[in-house]
Amino acid sequence: MSDQTNSQWGGRFSESTDAFVAEFTASVGFDRRLYRYDIEGSIAHASMLGKVGVITPDERGQILDGLKAVMADIEAGQFNWSVALEDVHMNVEKALTDKIGPVGKKLHTGRSRNDQIATDIRLYLRDEIDRLSSELTRLQSGLTSLAAAEADTIMPGFTHLQTAQPVTFGHHLLAWNEMLERDYSRLQDCRARMNVMPLGAAALAGTTYPIDRVFTAELLGFDRPSENSLDSVSDRDFAIEFSSAAALIMMHLSRMSEELVLWTSAQFDFIDLPDRFCTGSSIMPQKKNPDVPELVRGKTGRIFGHLMSLLTLMKSQPLAYNKDNQEDKEPVFDTVDNLAGSLRAFADMIPYIEAKRENMKLAAIKGYSTATDLADYLVKKGMPFRDAHEVVGQSVAYGLKTGKDLSEMTLEELTPFSDTITADVFDVLTLEGSVAARDHLGGTAPAQVRAAAERAKARLATR
Ligand code: ARG
Repeated sequence: MSDQTNSQWGGRFSESTDAFVAEFTASVGFDRRLYRYDIEGSIAHASMLGKVGVITPDERGQILDGLKAVMADIEAGQFNWSVALEDVHMNVEKALTDKIGPVGKKLHTGRSRNDQIATDIRLYLRDEIDRLSSELTRLQSGLTSLAAAEADTIMPGFTHLQTAQPVTFGHHLLAWNEMLERDYSRLQDCRARMNVMPLGAAALAGTTYPIDRVFTAELLGFDRPSENSLDSVSDRDFAIEFSSAAALIMMHLSRMSEELVLWTSAQFDFIDLPDRFCTGSSIMPQKKNPDVPELVRGKTGRIFGHLMSLLTLMKSQPLAYNKDNQEDKEPVFDTVDNLAGSLRAFADMIPYIEAKRENMKLAAIKGYSTATDLADYLVKKGMPFRDAHEVVGQSVAYGLKTGKDLSEMTLEELTPFSDTITADVFDVLTLEGSVAARDHLGGTAPAQVRAAAERAKARLATR
């Protein structure tokens, strides 16, 4: 083979790759991150080649030892990654051959970099999904504990960010938990569909060697080998699906972030975040900025962007493998890194949210949040809802003029609006009465919130 050409595939070439093109097309700068999965895949592949007799037991032994030695070198930081060798696969294979001699070249029998990379990313993402899932569980566990502790804490519930009806803070936190519960199950769904082994597809059509794909799949912990070789090397839908699950998680974290930012403001003043999750201002000494939620809210943008990149990358690709697919890695890696960081920061921070219970309650009183309760009270006494709505509207107008909440008005002040109002009205006009009355599955009553937090915790314990 001419030394002008690439040592791995240069046989048919008469001039070596343009220096810039070599750099431009290389992926080793980022796909080296997959080395562990690449080597695990190779170990399984070589074990299978030995089992079916394509290589001898001795060759298999040498290759496996060599691969383990290469792994150790990389892990010890004693590995020279070479851009000339293009990608992680050829870097590892070259290092193997340098270590054990020509027998190393037998490793690539019956496979291609196309099925190799399709396998590597799946192994990598499977691991990362497991890591992200346990961070999510840690976050949810903190959230449900805080919810149970705040089951009696009353705050305004909002629609249109206008005070609507009183709710408990625990109920609000459990709403967050439900969002994350669905996020968790999306990650598991994605993992299950992803856990199918492409190896054996080789370049696109399969291979002429008597391979045992079921054996390799078992070694690598895949549920089964894939059904179609063309599909196996080409589609990156699993990465898109992961990216979409990640985007939804970030969308939820971003909504939570927005509320945390609002609640820490002087205008809401509902909660305090520990100083260690905030930073100050270099010019305004009074400032304590909620940086962690702000940054998470901001990172949501790039993760949405990666989803769009991956969808666009895959769109219109003819079967089977195309070099376009090399562009899947950086968006996926960046998604994993930033999602992991965001989940970690939230899991660390959430248990230490300090509710300013008095402020929350005052805010609920200020907003006439029990107005619906007064209307319901009148309806239960026989008044049509539309009329009740009108009566309550007039009472609220009176309250706005006199600076009084409905629960602060005397019976004499209320009866002019409707003579069906009697002294028992005060049972429903207080904030406590209002939340306690929503006493059904999914309602905000403290007893329901405590029970819901228990159920949520029990679900987490089965993961
Ligand atoms: N670096 C490539 C990728 O990320 C690996 C597969 C390359 N295959 C090939 N025939 N060039 O997709």
